[in-house]
Amino acid sequence: MPKFYIQTYGCQMNVYESGVVRRVLSDAGFTETTDEHDADVLLMMTCSVRSHAEQRALGRLGTFRALRSERVGRVVGVLGCMAQRFADALVTDHRADIVVGPDEYLRLPELIARVQAGTTGLVATRQTSECYDAVMPRPDNPVSAFVTVMRGCDNYCTYCIVPHVKGRERSRPQASVMAEAVRHADSGVKDITLLGQNVLAYRDGTRRFPDLLRAVASALPRVRIRFLTSHPRDLDSSLLETMQRLPNVCPSLHLPVQSGSNPILERMNRGYTREEYLAKVALCREVLPEVCLTTDVLVGFPSETEADFKATLDLIEQVQFDFAYMFRFSFRPGTRAGEFRPKVSEADGGRRLARLIEVQNRITAESNRGMLNKELELLIEGPSPRDTGWLGRTVTNKIVIVKGRCAPGDKVRCRVTRINGWTPVAELPARAAATVTG
Ligand code: SAM
Ligand code: SF4
Ligand code: F3S
Repeated sequence: MPKFYIQTYGCQMNVYESGVVRRVLSDAGFTETTDEHDADVLLMMTCSVRSHAEQRALGRLGTFRALRSERVGRVVGVLGCMAQRFADALVTDHRADIVVGPDEYLRLPELIARVQAGTTGLVATRQTSECYDAVMPRPDNPVSAFVTVMRGCDNYCTYCIVPHVKGRERSRPQASVMAEAVRHADSGVKDITLLGQNVLAYRDGTRRFPDLLRAVASALPRVRIRFLTSHPRDLDSSLLETMQRLPNVCPSLHLPVQSGSNPILERMNRGYTREEYLAKVALCREVLPEVCLTTDVLVGFPSETEADFKATLDLIEQVQFDFAYMFRFSFRPGTRAGEFRPKVSEADGGRRLARLIEVQNRITAESNRGMLNKELELLIEGPSPRDTGWLGRTVTNKIVIVKGRCAPGDKVRCRVTRINGWTPVAELPARAAATVTG
């Protein structure tokens, strides 16, 4: 049987879509290998969100080409957002054999067969309304799974490449999302994350995202349900009240703010002001007092002044997010942000990012210290790095190192007894079996 190797870069949508590719190829008679030297087909699922992500993938493509020269007939393929953005250039300039955009994965077996029959340089980047409804993805994690509920994005934030590479916003039918979630639960998955660039744009006839969330969570009461990402503009009390009523929906929200300055938010085309964002945070905490809030922040956006940056720092201090992903602006060809002046120098952008990270790291560490002596329900995901115990995830999406006897998929209740650096550590009581809830 021919073997494929797949390396995944980028966001959770790419993790999900690599699962789609795994299913498509295994149905066509391929088996997966985790050893690139053993593979007949080397695939890379790529991301275009920042220049750095693309440079890393192009570097890795060099390794794939070197591996190809070691074995006759070995195929090198680039998939995902870079495939869509670079298309032919990945063949002409980077010597990929196949280049397959996000809507064309069903064609992979045919494209691989054509390369093996002697044609190289095949580019498939047609954009369609594909949602891979007929494919049950093969995830690589037995405990937690992603389920895409919508693909694409229509928001056109002025810095962002995603709408250009992932196409128009489209939702999967509720029945198809449900069927996939139920199959995961039947195979033992205990934690499901519903995915979309903005899940709050979900539509299936008159059904909106809170309806879908209610349907999935009620059908799978023993599975933890999470979702990503919520656009702050679209967040309202109907979502929060739905979360409040469903005990297995995790009280965690990823609410990317990007900036704390109104002129910058406007130039980013985010569709909310700082005041509106803060009012939504207050509403979240009123309806869900235990909610864990995370965010994305982007600094060095063209025209950002020191005063704009200070407004962002001030918002970060005010909200006290549990965690933040922080980025320096990276210009993406074809996006409107390139029109704004003046550009922020590399040095200023770097300094602002370092300062932001310093402030947020302190807040994250304080938030983790708040877990000390708390008894928590943890879902065991697997061994922790360097084998120091087990990785447990709280309902609020925090990672805790668990010491004691347990296994992946167990839900255990235990107390955080210390904080190691940033990381909370919990000890299972000696009679661990008594605390395992399945
Ligand atoms: N859909 C989500 C949202 O609305 O926020 C996020 C999608 S994007 C894949 C993830 C994060 O990457 C964004 O929230 C933003 O902070 C960051 N990002 C997007 N474009 C960027 C750029 N050109 N440079 C640096 N960071 C960027
Ligand atoms: Fe990009 Fe904005 Fe869409 Fe998020 S909402 S994917 S940041 S365009
Ligand atoms: Fe995701 Fe990167 Fe594409 S963040 S949607 S893989 S550009």
